[in-house]
Amino acid sequence: MAIEKTFSIIKPDAVKRGLIAEILKMITDSGLKIKGMKMIHMDRAQAEGFYAVHKERPFFGELVDYMISGPVVVSCLEGENAIEKYRVLMGATNPAQAAPGTIRAAYGLDIQNNSCHGSDGPDTAKTEVAYFFNDDELVG
Ligand code: TYD
Repeated sequence: MAIEKTFSIIKPDAVKRGLIAEILKMITDSGLKIKGMKMIHMDRAQAEGFYAVHKERPFFGELVDYMISGPVVVSCLEGENAIEKYRVLMGATNPAQAAPGTIRAAYGLDIQNNSCHGSDGPDTAKTEVAYFFNDDELVG
C-alpha cells in the first residue's frame, strides 16, 4: 500500500469547543503521522479559494462564513492509504449519518458544523496541502 499525504482541517466548531487534542488523538491513534500543522484564522478570500469547487452550491456563502468564524487547525497527515483512511476516520459529511467511532459521530453537530475536513482524492490532497503549507513546513 502506498504512503500518501492528505490534508486535514479541524474546523471552527471543534476548535471553539476545545476539541483539538481529542481529534488529534483520534488521528494519531489511527496510525496517521502529522507531517505539518498550524493554527490559522482564514480570511474570506482564502476560504473562498479553498472551497472554490463548491462556489455554485447553495451552501457556499454560509460555508465560507462558518469557516472564517474562528481559528482552525490545518495539518498535513501521512501514512499508508492516508487519504481513504482519514476519510473513513472522519465519517459521513452529515454527523447524523456518521458511523460510530468516527470523528464526526463523536463531535460533529450538524452538516455544516461537522468538525473536520479531509481531502477526497490524490489530486485534491496535493492541491490542498500546497494551499496551506510550503515544503519546508512539512517537518514531521
Ligand atoms: P463535501 O465536500 O460534500 O463534504 P466533505 O466535507 O465530507 O468532503 O462538502 C464540503 C463541506 O460543505 C462539508 O464538510 C460541509 C459543507 N456542506 C454544507 O454545509 N451543506 C451541505 O448540504 C453539504 C453537502 C456540505
